[in-house]
Parts: sequence; C-alpha cells; structure tokens
Amino acid sequence: MTDLASWRAQFPILATCTYLVSHSLGAMPLGARDKLARFADQWATRGVRAWHEGWWEIGRTTGDLLAPILGVPRGSVSMHQNVSVAQAIVASCYRYDGPRRRVVMSALEFPTNLYLYHAFERFGAEVVVVPADDPVRVDTARFLDAIDERTVLVPFSLVLFKSAFVQDAQAIVEKARRVGAHAIADVYQAAGTLPLDLAALGVEYAVGGSVKWLCGGPGAGYLYVRPDLAPSLAPAVTGWAAHARPFQFEAGSIDYADPSERFQTGTPNVAAWSMAQAGYEIVANIGVARIREHSQRLTGRIVDHALARGYEVRSPLAAEARGGTVTLAVPNSEQVAQALLGRQVIIDHRPGAGIRMAPHFYTTEAEVDSALATLDELVSAGAGVVG
Ligand SMILES: Cc1ncc(COP(=O)(O)O)c(C=O)c1O
Repeated sequence: MTDLASWRAQFPILATCTYLVSHSLGAMPLGARDKLARFADQWATRGVRAWHEGWWEIGRTTGDLLAPILGVPRGSVSMHQNVSVAQAIVASCYRYDGPRRRVVMSALEFPTNLYLYHAFERFGAEVVVVPADDPVRVDTARFLDAIDERTVLVPFSLVLFKSAFVQDAQAIVEKARRVGAHAIADVYQAAGTLPLDLAALGVEYAVGGSVKWLCGGPGAGYLYVRPDLAPSLAPAVTGWAAHARPFQFEAGSIDYADPSERFQTGTPNVAAWSMAQAGYEIVANIGVARIREHSQRLTGRIVDHALARGYEVRSPLAAEARGGTVTLAVPNSEQVAQALLGRQVIIDHRPGAGIRMAPHFYTTEAEVDSALATLDELVSAGAGVVG
C-alpha cells in the first residue's frame, strides 16, 4: 500500500501553503493539467473529427469512471455543469399541479437546492422547509414527519455543507418510498471522502459535483438516476444530446435516448469532464475507505484540540456522524479566518457557522498540528489580528 503522503507531489499547491479547504475546492492534481493539454492538442490537431474520437461520448466515459466512487452501476451517471443543473433536470421530470406537489427540504440545505425548488413554485410546487433549531444538525424525526402522501420529492444533502453532519439517508429514503415520494441525495460533500453505496441505499437520484473532495475542478456536475426508474422519465429540461438520434436533427418534440443519455442537455463540456477524470482516478486508486480512515483521524485531532481549548465545535463530535470537515466557532471567527489565510493556512468561513477546516488524503498530521497552533496564537491575540 502506498504511503498517502506520496500523493502530495501530485498536488503543487501543497508546497506553498497548508491546504485545509477541500470541502470548497480540492487541490489540483498535475494530471488535470495533462488532461487539459490533451484536450487542447486534440482540438488543435484533430479539429471537428475529435467529436467522433471520444468527445461526444465524454459524458458517459466520465460518468463510468465516477460510478464506482458513488457505488452505482456503470451507465447510470450523466455529467452536467453543476448540481443546480442536475437538480433542475430531476425537478423537470415531475408535475406540480396535482395533490402530490410538495417538495420537502431542510433549512440547512445548500442554498442552490432551495433556490431551485422555490423557483418551481410558479409551476405549483409547494416547498416545505423543515426548520433546524441548531446550526449543526437537522432533527431527523422532524424531517421524516414532514414527508407524507402529498410529497413528490425529497432533496437532501447526505452531508450538510456548513457542519459536515451526516444525515440518516437510509431513514429518509425509506420514508420517502413508503409514501410514494422520490428522494434526491446531494452527495457533493460526501463523494470522495465518505464511502458511498448509493445502489444499496436505493435512493432514486443523486447529484453532486467534482470541485471538492474529488479534486476534479469546476464544470463537472453529475446526476445518478436509479436504473429501473430511468427509462420512464422524461425531463422537460432537455436538449438535442438527449435525443435518441441527435445527428438526424429531427424537428418536433424529443424522442429520448436510452439512459443515461436521456438526461443530457446540449453539447458536452469536453474540457471540464476530461479534467475531472484526473481527480477521480486518484480517489479511486487510493480508495474512499482509506481516505475516510485518514480523514476521521485528522478531523478527530482537530475536534479534540478544539474541545481542550474550549472552542465551540459546530460539527458532530462523533466521528461516524461527521463528514470530512470540522467547523469551529472561536471569538471573532471571521477576523481569525482572515488572519489564518494571511498565514497561508487555507480554510474558509461561513456565516452562522464558523471556520471550516478540512484535511484530505494529502494532508499530514504535522500540517494539522501547525494549523491548530497558528489558530491558537491568533485566538489568543484577540480580535482584529492581522497575520
Ligand atoms: C452540498 C452542496 N450542494 C451543492 C453545492 C454547489 O452547487 P453547484 O454545483 O450548483 O454550484 C455545494 C457547494 O458548492 C454543496 O456543498
């Protein structure tokens, strides 16, 4: 088994700073640059012929590479621009003019999901937002109670973006199924740091992107649709790449292709999806179970340190209930976050939450310890410190 630290050489930014922000933007692997260079060379030398030399099928080939990381069969993942688009494609498969028109979501969802479904209110959707009493977790029982026979869709994040709380996906999927609703797992904060077996979970849909733990860069969102459900779906958000015979350029309404092509829209984003493959290859090569083990050890170290220092931990304390991030509220969190950035400790800050710190497979224990020492120093120095 290769030492995890040996992967560090593949990520140039690690030589320049303490990179603890993979919940936001995973570090770029050198392979991404190679994939982009290959794309540019193909465009330069093959021109339009490149469409038939891998470009047109890039959504399928990229989705197939991602499928084992999500724990789903090949051919069930389509590629898109981002979660917002993938979620819109799902939302557009449903009607909102009958008795079953409710979309049940938690107030702690990533806002893009809330914005999208609220926008569907113009089509009759009734968005039920389940409030959260604390910034860390959703009360599962309360969330489940909101799902009933009036519910059409249940979009939920498997790992909450502000606190890294791991939701009880099994309970949510089962309750949705019992009342005849469909669940959509947003796995953005899980894929690449939490082992996933979405096929076993039985969830109808999953959406996510590649910017974070997958180290795949922007423009590579994805959508999983449960294979038995896929053939009956007719997304209204569609385009010619979803047509059974796109190159016949037939007029009229669409004759959908087989899955997963039927969830496509228009021209594939060849550059972004090629680039994303470099990150997927590394994550698959290491194995997410191993990444999780390393992550739990390092996030546990951050939690223990914070508790010893009396900092407020706004992430679950139990390792199994926590994703890859630890959120800490310290006095003057926002200024402290700025000062950390000034000291080349790359983290971020979210309003109402605090400083988010995320070690990934390429992070060492020594880096975590030195980041925590810098944090202590800044907190002790008080408000308004500039690093
Ligand atoms: C859980 C979750 N969903 C979605 C997004 C982003 O959505 P999009 O891909 O549409 O930018 C993020 C973070 O950027 C996120 O953390």
